[in-house]
Amino acid sequence: MKEQLEAILASAKKELGETTNARDLDAVRVKYLGKKGELTAILKGMKNLSPEERPVVGQMVNEVRAAVEAALEEQGEKIERLALEEKLKSETLDVTMPGEEVVLGHKHPLTVVLDEIKDIFIGLGFQIAEGPEVELDHYNFEALNIPKDHPARDTQDTFYVSDNVVLRTQTSGMQVRVMEKTQPPIRIIAPGRVFRSDAVDATHSPLFHQIEGLVVDKGITMSDLKGILELFAKRLYGDDTVVRFRPHHFPFTEPSAEMDIQCYQCHGEGCRLCKGEGWIEILGCGMVHPKVLEMSGIDPEIYSGYAFGIGLERTVMGRFKIDDIRLFYENDVRFLHQF
Ligand code: DAH
Repeated sequence: MKEQLEAILASAKKELGETTNARDLDAVRVKYLGKKGELTAILKGMKNLSPEERPVVGQMVNEVRAAVEAALEEQGEKIERLALEEKLKSETLDVTMPGEEVVLGHKHPLTVVLDEIKDIFIGLGFQIAEGPEVELDHYNFEALNIPKDHPARDTQDTFYVSDNVVLRTQTSGMQVRVMEKTQPPIRIIAPGRVFRSDAVDATHSPLFHQIEGLVVDKGITMSDLKGILELFAKRLYGDDTVVRFRPHHFPFTEPSAEMDIQCYQCHGEGCRLCKGEGWIEILGCGMVHPKVLEMSGIDPEIYSGYAFGIGLERTVMGRFKIDDIRLFYENDVRFLHQF
């Protein structure tokens, strides 16, 4: 009996030593310790033994069982350890391998300059206002002192959505929207897309961008307007920039003007860039018309203000010497990569 048990223990250990995974390990456990296993068979056979032999054999069987269980546990741990090592090995990361290059895009030239313009005005205490591109005729024209039959409408070929709704032709309507909601002091710029039914060529596009500006407070005069706009031009084009104001007409400002900068290419001599003029037009501006203040709910006896409108495309074209507006919208990366 003793030899038989020793043989069982030896073969159990041998078989265990050959297992490499949990399933094989379990098969060995069943073979020796299971209900139909070899040790169980010996326990069942004990009824044929004499009463003196029984406890001796019983003890031997228990010792062998304990030894098999210990061997099982040991082999189980070994298998787990090996599996972990295998996994770690297969997941090693070679940190010396070259990385995959991520292609980063960058800002569109219009956005580059718009961001600069925003920064300049934010630095001067302005806030940014935004409004709808599909606009009521009232805000785009009527409340800006451009009634239905006013000839100024002819200069802005308009996409009409219905009799009273248009694609905004200018950002100036934002002046009214802001004044209706806010009492002075007001100091905002309103950048955005505008639309006109213009044929496409090198300097015209049915979609372009404007940046509206509005300041309303007690005691605002034309010298405030000139001071801020000259400072703006110097920040954007450089400290040596020379500006001039020319009288002009806009229905919603009185008096009105256009601001030019001296051509930064020829310094006033006249060249191709400034078309021989020596000056480049940058923006329209003026003192907000008292009627516009009044229609927007602000008392023109107490408050005054100035407004301006900058054409973004024209500004960027001058800045980067771009000679065709269509390049902005074609999304040709060979063009966009240059900025
Ligand atoms: N909205 C005008 C345009 O499209 C530009 C403009 C001129 C805006 C004078 C203003 C201003 O606020 O005061 O031609």
